[in-house]
Amino acid sequence: MKKISILTGAGMSAESGLRTFRDSDGLWESHNVYDVATPEAWQRDPELVLNFYNERRRQVRKAKPNKAHLALAKLEKKYDVHIITQNIDDLHERGGSTQVLHLHGEINKVRSTVDSRLIYELDHWEMKLGDKCEKGSQLRPHIVWFGEPVPMIEKAIPIVKTADIVIVIGTSLGVYPAAGLVNYVTPFSKKIYIDPKGITENNNNFKVIKEKAGVGVPTLVNKLL
Ligand code: APR
Repeated sequence: MKKISILTGAGMSAESGLRTFRDSDGLWESHNVYDVATPEAWQRDPELVLNFYNERRRQVRKAKPNKAHLALAKLEKKYDVHIITQNIDDLHERGGSTQVLHLHGEINKVRSTVDSRLIYELDHWEMKLGDKCEKGSQLRPHIVWFGEPVPMIEKAIPIVKTADIVIVIGTSLGVYPAAGLVNYVTPFSKKIYIDPKGITENNNNFKVIKEKAGVGVPTLVNKLL
């Protein structure tokens, strides 16, 4: 079975109604990253941070997988498919994909602030100050904030290196180390980048399909199947 590795970003979920970060109506236009998505923000004003992620969680739970998520899941009929996503939503999983690696964390999970191995599924949508782990410390969102290590990158690199086909979808490739993954693709892999903006500074000889995910991905999947 040929192996397809897929790197996705916020554009993948845009047509499910979730805002991207750096487009003109993006989340970082209306929120300051340093106020809501850094360890310093969490120290300074944890309630503001929790509220920001509560709102993200509420929206993710309302959202549904779009045509692109559903199309990627179909690839598993014929290929060994590995999705590496920068997204914190669970739309790939709900769309039917079975091998999904979350580089930047998961909105439906929370973890202990004293022991990062204590990770819990959140069954309700709202986290509050005072929600504690089994060791008695405050829980935080299971999200990689700016300035924090990205432990999953070590698992992502071999997934990219060993792929026959690499598809990058809906990401500005502006945030490292995720963006650096394209540099691990071998010259022998087929490389495809789907994004309505087309070219990025770092698209490393990818064939560019200048389309929204909801159009470009199902078309590509039909060709591959
Ligand atoms: N289909 C495909 N791509 C789209 C669509 C769409 N319908 N709409 C927008 N896009 C593209 C934009 O052209 C842009 O290239 O999605 C990309 C979104 O880029 P960013 O907002 O920078 O999101 P992303 O690359 O995922 O950001 C990476 O930055 O803030 C952090 O942790 C956050 O995981 C995120 C990381």
